[in-house]
Amino acid sequence: MKGNESEGLKELLCQALETEMGGIQVYRTALRCAVNADLKKEWQEYLEQTENHERIVRGLFSSLDLDPGTETTGRTIVREKGKGLVAAMEKALSSGKKDAAQLVACECVVEAETKDHMNWELIGEVAKKQTGEAGKALKAAHDEVEDEEDEHLYHTTGWCRELWLQSLGQPAVLPPPEERKDVKTAIGAARAKAARRPRSGGAKSASSSRSGNGGGRGGKRQPSRSSAPTRSART
Ligand SMILES: [Fe+2]
Ligand SMILES: [Fe+2]
Repeated sequence: MKGNESEGLKELLCQALETEMGGIQVYRTALRCAVNADLKKEWQEYLEQTENHERIVRGLFSSLDLDPGTETTGRTIVREKGKGLVAAMEKALSSGKKDAAQLVACECVVEAETKDHMNWELIGEVAKKQTGEAGKALKAAHDEVEDEEDEHLYHTTGWCRELWLQSLGQPAVLPPPEERKDVKTAIGAARAKAARRPRSGGAKSASSSRSGNGGGRGGKRQPSRSSAPTRSART
């Protein structure tokens, strides 16, 4: 690997580690903001996965013989952004408006997961080109994490949109179609969004889906409201 490639990868891994560390704090705070029981269950699962991602990235530092304590300007900026997201949620919580705080948390998770998702996409690109033990380690890590990062971003984006619609008095689909269809790609998310069929007659309150009709992924969750025809996963 050339010097600039090696430096670039080190920077990416430093930012990826900081993103996962910050992501843990983001989810811990977001869970305090969550009102919807299904969303809470989903985020609890994502928190546990993010804790595992941090372990996986630390493993990459070890495999590539890098120091996980390396500080870079980019890493510091990722850390500050994460703190900003946590502070935003704390402020929303202090207002006492629970549904509003939940929306703020959704947006914060989407922002954090946008960075997280891009980090892993880039790690995947490097893994395709990298040879030897480093290449194997990057590929194995990417394979383990990729699907989960897709869910974190696309499913939470769906939650964010539907909870916002609900707050606007518009018909909402909860849990969102991205989750019901177990979307794992950008095109799948676009299709799920385009095919959403909220039941007319106004939105239900957040408590309407607090009963926890299932949870988890891969078709385990039973729809609580009518939605578009099911499409196969990974569309
Ligand atoms: Fe992650
Ligand atoms: Fe994530």
